[in-house]
Amino acid sequence: MNTEISALFTIFGATGDLAHRKLYPSLYHLYKKGFIKNNFAVIGTARREWSNDYFHEVIADSLKDVVENEEELKAFTSHFYYISHNVKDADHYVELKKLSDQLDEKYQTNGNRIFYLAMAPQFFGTIGDMLKANHLITENGFNRLIIEKPFGHDLKSATELNEQLTRSFSEDQIYRIDHYLGKEMIQNISAVRFSNMIFEALWNNKYIDNVQITLSETVGVEDRGDYYDHTGALRDMVQNHILQIVALLVMEPPLSLNGNDIRNEKIKALRSLRLYENEKDVINNFVRGQYTAGNDQAGYTDEPKVNPESSTETFVAGKIMVDNFRWAGVPFYVRTGKRMSQKDTYIHIQFKHVSMNLFPTEGVEEVAQPNILTIHISPLEGFSLRLNTKRVGQGTEMKNIRMHQILDEQTVSNSPEAYERLLLDCLNGDPTNFTHWKEVEQSWRFIDFIRNAWDQDEEHIYEYASGTMGPKESYDLLHQDGFDWIEFNWSTKYKKK
Ligand code: BG6
Repeated sequence: MNTEISALFTIFGATGDLAHRKLYPSLYHLYKKGFIKNNFAVIGTARREWSNDYFHEVIADSLKDVVENEEELKAFTSHFYYISHNVKDADHYVELKKLSDQLDEKYQTNGNRIFYLAMAPQFFGTIGDMLKANHLITENGFNRLIIEKPFGHDLKSATELNEQLTRSFSEDQIYRIDHYLGKEMIQNISAVRFSNMIFEALWNNKYIDNVQITLSETVGVEDRGDYYDHTGALRDMVQNHILQIVALLVMEPPLSLNGNDIRNEKIKALRSLRLYENEKDVINNFVRGQYTAGNDQAGYTDEPKVNPESSTETFVAGKIMVDNFRWAGVPFYVRTGKRMSQKDTYIHIQFKHVSMNLFPTEGVEEVAQPNILTIHISPLEGFSLRLNTKRVGQGTEMKNIRMHQILDEQTVSNSPEAYERLLLDCLNGDPTNFTHWKEVEQSWRFIDFIRNAWDQDEEHIYEYASGTMGPKESYDLLHQDGFDWIEFNWSTKYKKK
């Protein structure tokens, strides 16, 4: 039996896509599991003038694939209230406070409040100030603020945003979402690293040759041309998701699994990333690309709401170096992009080869290969490990095999979705899977050097055809170090079986 947590949620941006696709279904799952039950209420607010009834219809629509019966749906939506709201208008906060206090009383939420800002960041500061000035932040319960990315668009704007927020909420009340940290296999990285001697003992530059992280997408910019054209792949994916993955792979063992212990190690890990302080280093170590038409898909500059002259990157590949005792000399290659040939997220950890290969390398089909541990994040979830064995029969010819543990479809579909996990963590006051300001700060410091160098250099942006794995220069980046992207398409192979 799960313990019920009482809270009043206020969702700013309740009419938006994120609320519809992620927040209402996640709250419903938490309700079904009994984490929220009788003592919770949700206030949805946005500019649009919706009635409570219409709000309930919208929520019902967002739950149409998951809801089991009408009665339960009604019981759930009865906890939802809508209030139309202009975030800049002080009078609206007076109304919001009145409703919050009523619901607090009605549902016995004990003054526990979660404010979810699912909207454009330019209003975050104003909302924080208004919540404080109008006494929506309670004295008697917990008060937590969840915010969505992007957290600024460079270090300067992120710092300003943080200063605005911390006028009303302290760091330990702020929950910055990076939805990758809610994914099962991202949460599994520490489990595998720190509970298996065979990996922990080898997790350093003596035994690891290089690490490769791929987050590839097949979609283009969809209807987000407006946002994306001002953002680009570096800010959209590398600053947050990719650097968070790097931090989890690189960090030292934390003192405990306590959120602050883990986040302290991640902050140290991010501080050890080499900053590419001059333009030449950026050009040599980070490649950007933009998709052109191909495979019946439009090119980026033909997408709606994208400047036809745009030089925004839709692809990034980079080499990250970690200048500390454990990792000196091991390249971490990362790549991400839109309109690539497959939607796949995985990490390859390639170990060094044995110091002397005793097995045949000529006149045979397969030769001994370096071991690779692959963490499959999505769509497949699990691990696989490339090993060498002897081919069955006479002789000493090698056979490369993969031992794997891939979660079956049922397990994956029953496991909570990232937003559900993160909402529950926030209800429980567990900050582990949210990014601390110091992580955000350090990530922007790293990214700003790259962005600034690119802003000075119009020349090095490479085209790649839609439906491919990025420009040739991304391959050159590894070739110059004697490596290659490991194009091991396990997802397709595994699914075909
Ligand atoms: C988001 C980006 O943070 O992550 C999107 O803004 C991207 O552009 C998305 O599509 C990818 O997330 P996932 O979970 O589908 O890999």
